[in-house]
Amino acid sequence: MSQVRKTSIPSLQRKKHDGQAITMLTAYDYPGAKLVEAAGADIILVGDSLAMTVLGHPDTVQVTMDEMLHHCKAVSRGAQRAFLVGDMPFMSYQVDRREAIQNAGRFLKEANMDAVKLEGGQPVAATIKAIVDAGISVMGHLGLTPQSATQLGGYRIQGKTAKDALRLYEDALLLERSGCFSLVFEAVPEPVAREISKKLTIPTIGIGAGPGCDGQVLVFHDILGLSGDFAPQFIKKYADLSEPIVSALKKFCEEVEGGQFPGPEHSFKMDATELEQFLEKANKPDQSWI
Ligand code: KIV
Repeated sequence: MSQVRKTSIPSLQRKKHDGQAITMLTAYDYPGAKLVEAAGADIILVGDSLAMTVLGHPDTVQVTMDEMLHHCKAVSRGAQRAFLVGDMPFMSYQVDRREAIQNAGRFLKEANMDAVKLEGGQPVAATIKAIVDAGISVMGHLGLTPQSATQLGGYRIQGKTAKDALRLYEDALLLERSGCFSLVFEAVPEPVAREISKKLTIPTIGIGAGPGCDGQVLVFHDILGLSGDFAPQFIKKYADLSEPIVSALKKFCEEVEGGQFPGPEHSFKMDATELEQFLEKANKPDQSWI
């Protein structure tokens, strides 16, 4: 059996150093993880975006630790090579540092993740350091941080003014010093993300942050056209699977209703003598064979 070469933090670091783009995709379950692995992505993020893509919530705020762990476990069973990052949900790391370390640890111990991701800059930097000091690798997330979208005034681009861009830069340096092995930049002007990425030693992964980041991430359902009408500018739909999926499901319903499915090729045969005996007894009115 061939040995699978697992993506590691040093290999991600090397990619940045060599100017090779890092690829990250979200996945939320076993088949999704297998597909993303087959595509060759370096990192699988079990994002809290699953609150919307899989659980049907309007935003990421409501997803719980137990729900995140449930999905992380499934993903870890479908992935051998990709580096696995579990997203810490809202309120699992903000209240208490000790609780944050324990929750981060659950992603590794119970759900087989390689690292966790946390949103925010200065307010969570000390927590990130504490988690890293406990031996857990952390990916940061700056710019548009969906868990605090209400405070940011909605889902809007961040770091548009010189002052805001400098604050973003400061936060990025702080998270690097706090021990993050990588940072996500979400919805940040391209030149800002490019400049900060150059200044940092750790790799940056962009979503709506332009090509100047060291890598790119997109959400599984968005790439495949499974997110309905949700279509922010920074998403590229690489396929529109919703139409062929609905059409296949429709065909099933039509064939069942029309008696074409299941056909003989989908049904199991039985030995003729056994069948004869079965029918003879089953059709006895008194059921004395029971
Ligand atoms: O939850 C998520 O999918 C994310 C990515 C968009 C980076 O955080």
